[in-house]
Amino acid sequence: MSLADFAADAGILLRMLRGLPRNGSHAERLEGFYAPQAERYDAFRTRLLHGRDALIEALEIPAAARVVELGCGTGRNLAAIEQVRPVATLTSIQLVDLCPALLAVARQRVRGMSNVEVIEADATLWRPAVPVDRVFLSYALTMMPDWSAVLANAYAMLAPGGRLGLVDFHLPESGSRLGNRFWQAWFGHDGVALSGEHLPALQAAFPDSLTRECRAAVPYLPGLRAPYYLFVGVKP
Ligand SMILES: C[S@@+](CC[C@H](N)C(=O)[O-])C[C@H]1O[C@@H](n2cnc3c(N)ncnc32)[C@H](O)[C@@H]1O
Repeated sequence: MSLADFAADAGILLRMLRGLPRNGSHAERLEGFYAPQAERYDAFRTRLLHGRDALIEALEIPAAARVVELGCGTGRNLAAIEQVRPVATLTSIQLVDLCPALLAVARQRVRGMSNVEVIEADATLWRPAVPVDRVFLSYALTMMPDWSAVLANAYAMLAPGGRLGLVDFHLPESGSRLGNRFWQAWFGHDGVALSGEHLPALQAAFPDSLTRECRAAVPYLPGLRAPYYLFVGVKP
C-alpha cells in the first residue's frame, strides 16, 4: 500500500470510523454514510468485497436473460457480467438501490445501455413487471435490516428454474465465538449486520443450491481474514 493509496482512502476510512449515522430513516442513513464515499467507493471495495466476480460466474446467466441486482450500489457488477455474457445481449438488467449518491455513479456507468435500468427503490418492496431469470445481491443483504423480507421478495420475483445468488459476510458455524464477535462488532459499526441465520435460511428455501464458505483479507487489518459465503440456489 503506497502513501498515495492511503491518502486516497483517508476520506473513506474517516467515514467508516464514524460509522453509519444513527438517526434518520434507513434511506437517509445510507445516504449519509455513502455520499462522502461515492467517488472512491469502487476502488476501496475492490479490496474489501471479495468473491463478487465468482458469484457472477456461478450464476451462469443464460442468453437473453432478465437479470435483477438488489442493492447494486454503483453498478460495479455490470463489468463482471460483461465478462461472462455481453450486457447488450441480455433482455434486461435492473439495478435497484436505496442510496441516491451511489445510484448517481451507476447512472453514469450505464449511460447509453438501453437494456439497463437504474431504479431507486427499497429491495423489500420493489418488484419487476415480469418474473426474471436471475436475481443477485452482493454484500447487500447484511445492510438490509428486514433481510427475510428481501429474501422473500427476491424469491417471488424469480421465474421457476431461475437462480438467486448472494455473496456476503456472515458468522460461520465453524468460526470461534471470539472471532465471530469481533467481526460482528467490526462490521456492525458501519451498519453491516453479520448473521449466522442468512445462509441456513437460503439453504432451506433452495434445496438445489451451491454454497462456498471462504475468508479473505480486509484492508488495514493485516493478518485477519473476514468470513464470507457465496450461495446460488435454483427456484423449483
Ligand atoms: C455494501 S453495498 C454493496 C453494493 C454493491 N452490491 C457492491 O457489490 O459493490 C450495500 C448496498 O445495499 C444498499 N441497500 C441497503 N439497504 C437497501 C434496501 N432496503 N433496498 C435497496 N438497497 C439497499 C445500500 O445502499 C448499498 O448500496
